[in-house]
Amino acid sequence: QKIYLSDYQVPNYLVEDVHLTFRLAPEATRVLSRITFRPNPDASSKDFFLHGEDLQLISAKIDGAEVTPDLVVGGLTCAVPDAPFVWEAEVEISPATNTALEGLYMSNGMYCTQCEAEGFRKITYYPDRPDVMSVFTVRIESDLPVLLSNGNPVTSGEGFAEWHDPWPKPAYLFALVGGELINHPDTFTTKSGKEVELNIYVRPGDEGKCAFGMEALKKSMVWDEEVYGREYDLDIFNIVAVDDFNMGAMENKGLNIFNSSCVLASAETSTDMNFERIEAIIAHEYFHNWTGNRITCRDWFQLCLKEGLTVYRDAQFTADMRSEPVKRIEDVIALRARQFREDNGPLAHPVRPDSFVEINNFYTATVYEKGAELIGMLKTLVGDAAYYKALDLYFDRHDGDAATIEDWLTVFEESTGRDLSQFKRWYEQAGTPRLAVEEAYEDGTFTLTFKQSTPPTPGQDQKDPRVIPIAVGLLNPNGDEVVPTTVLEMTEATQSFRFEGLTARPTPSILRSFSAPVILERASSNAERAFLLAHDTDPFNKWEAGRALARAGLVEMILNGAAPDGAYLDAVLQVLRDDSLDPAFRALALGLPSQDDLAQTLVDQGHTPDPQAIYEALETLKMAMATHMQDVLPRIYAQYQVTEAYQPDAAQSGARSLANAALSLISRVDGGTAAQAQYDSADNMTQQLAGLAALLTAGKGAQAVATFYEQWKEDRLVIDKWFGLQISLADPAQAAEVAEQLTQHPDFTMKNPNRFRATLGALAMSPAGFHRADGAGYKLLADWLIKLDPLNPQTTARMCSAFETWKRYDSDRQALIAAQLDRILAQDGLSRDTTEMLTRIRGS
Ligand code: ARG
Ligand code: ZN
Repeated sequence: QKIYLSDYQVPNYLVEDVHLTFRLAPEATRVLSRITFRPNPDASSKDFFLHGEDLQLISAKIDGAEVTPDLVVGGLTCAVPDAPFVWEAEVEISPATNTALEGLYMSNGMYCTQCEAEGFRKITYYPDRPDVMSVFTVRIESDLPVLLSNGNPVTSGEGFAEWHDPWPKPAYLFALVGGELINHPDTFTTKSGKEVELNIYVRPGDEGKCAFGMEALKKSMVWDEEVYGREYDLDIFNIVAVDDFNMGAMENKGLNIFNSSCVLASAETSTDMNFERIEAIIAHEYFHNWTGNRITCRDWFQLCLKEGLTVYRDAQFTADMRSEPVKRIEDVIALRARQFREDNGPLAHPVRPDSFVEINNFYTATVYEKGAELIGMLKTLVGDAAYYKALDLYFDRHDGDAATIEDWLTVFEESTGRDLSQFKRWYEQAGTPRLAVEEAYEDGTFTLTFKQSTPPTPGQDQKDPRVIPIAVGLLNPNGDEVVPTTVLEMTEATQSFRFEGLTARPTPSILRSFSAPVILERASSNAERAFLLAHDTDPFNKWEAGRALARAGLVEMILNGAAPDGAYLDAVLQVLRDDSLDPAFRALALGLPSQDDLAQTLVDQGHTPDPQAIYEALETLKMAMATHMQDVLPRIYAQYQVTEAYQPDAAQSGARSLANAALSLISRVDGGTAAQAQYDSADNMTQQLAGLAALLTAGKGAQAVATFYEQWKEDRLVIDKWFGLQISLADPAQAAEVAEQLTQHPDFTMKNPNRFRATLGALAMSPAGFHRADGAGYKLLADWLIKLDPLNPQTTARMCSAFETWKRYDSDRQALIAAQLDRILAQDGLSRDTTEMLTRIRGS
């Protein structure tokens, strides 16, 4: 049941052409397929196998003659001619009872699909693997007014529609939608003059939330033409919003399907962060048209080929649309919170895994976000011009291919003349490298000596040195930059780099812009951190210095009961006051390391983290910040109020984020007065939610929680926020009870992944509440995972990662968690998805 990369075999049969007819009915949809197969001359076997799951086979024919295939586990086999032949099958499926949200399913009366990675086999019998590509023609029969599939529309009429996709594609990019939907239309003219029809389809009532997504789509189309030279290639591009969706969105050819939370936006119902994320996801799915669809993956081990590159591209896009440093800081915060956490625990795996049981369990921060970091490092190593030249060659050479990481690296090797065999280790070895650094200064020469090492990860004890691009700048004692950013290329386990001709011992700024996904281990003083926070010209490292200062002070508070560090409070106050700095940057500089970040820091220093102590230290520090900055915070709060009409752009959202960071601190000392005023007068969700959050922090949220619900009870996405906030801002001693009560609320349903995540996910992401010493958090989550698994294995399995840090904690907590893991594992019929996740987490 475990599948290995090393076992890859080419498909025995190739598909020339596919015709599908869907007769839609909620519990008895008929799917008729007519597929032209031909034997693959490169294959060593003639065995004919089609994937199929949860299908009722009605009939099958080969070249027009009835056949009786052998139904086997996971599909069927059949005797076939040793020449091209036409396979026809009719199957019946039941979209209305498909709660797994994979294959063809129904969401609020609308039909939709999710086929990546292996969902097409729940629609009809097919070689459901990405290296089998074909042209699809689809006919949909239904009385529903909107019937969509991939490619271009061919004809439609009373009760049917036909679509033809001229671009060969793997089955995972197939999509179908049917429903009573309203479209938000627009058009786009590509740079070579082709008119493209654009639509965002939504349920009635949501049509007012499409405009922002449409603008984001058009900006993405322009950007990909300008930056990567990539044009759109069909007459039409459709986006559909679906309420029940396991992931964020899906790049089906010409018919992207989105979780409604990742496309619907309005000032009244969406926060600035929502807008930024929606813009990024629209771009991400659109960019997949080239990196994913025109060039796809040979097999699922190559997932990072499309995901890492596409995440990298969407990050570049966001940096161009908004602020590059702010985007970089946000991404590194997320990388450390999700990917470093994964890399440090039992679920660690290489960016290109070499085995899996269930591929859905590998749509991870490692494949996506670390995968994107690898692209960024490659670009840093070869330089911008060589990067874009290599990309041109990649598109040229591999258009229409199902490619591999080897293909990708070969393109770079050939176009730059570089040997990338050492770089390839980044794809093959799991774990976050530790980069220790020592400094020496003598006679005007400054020497940096780096040592790299990567701790063992499951199945990989030994790690080889990797090539690490280390961006460094040097500052002289008065704070001027004497050596601007220089990229050092480290290839050895230990390696020194010299800077000559200096007049005084410099202060180094190392790993600028976070040039590699490593953990920098460097003995530093608080004075030096404060110096870099004040003087570093690299915005990322300026922020990083403040973060290190905060972290060091918090560790002292947690371990030794120290008081909040006055030097930190002064340093951060200076940043706050510096009106020459971007407000969004200052808001980030006011932020503190998360509870989870501090827990991992303590582990790295050899301690066992106490989640409650971490929580309390953070609360104490925030209170100290609020009092220390008492005079400045109200001024900042007033100064950064936006008076113009709401716009979700970088300038306005930066101002709001700074004002709201101030509000959150002010509310700790003013009894919630300012928060109440903001909540009462807010005319957009950013301000309203920040007001509500600050009220909850001040312990004055009860009334606002009630009025907020009354105001928004008809809006599913806003009510998700209402569920989540009450749990994430609850007193940790009560968080499990609050979450449990919310699961009893009439609006709670585990069938909607967004609602489930807003509730149980919020608990799992509140460390002090989740890790409460009596185990109530663990038990509640386990209870719900047990309930959800039979309905929706994918969402259940993803949420199991809540337990991935369990070995960090004390033996009492470990025993409580082990008991819950074992209880879930003992359930009859537990899904393959959840079984794999829990077995890996549990370890031996
Ligand atoms: N390819 C999609 C994206 O990155 C994600 C789909 C993941 N689906 C899944 N079932 N794992 O945009
Ligand atoms: Zn993607």
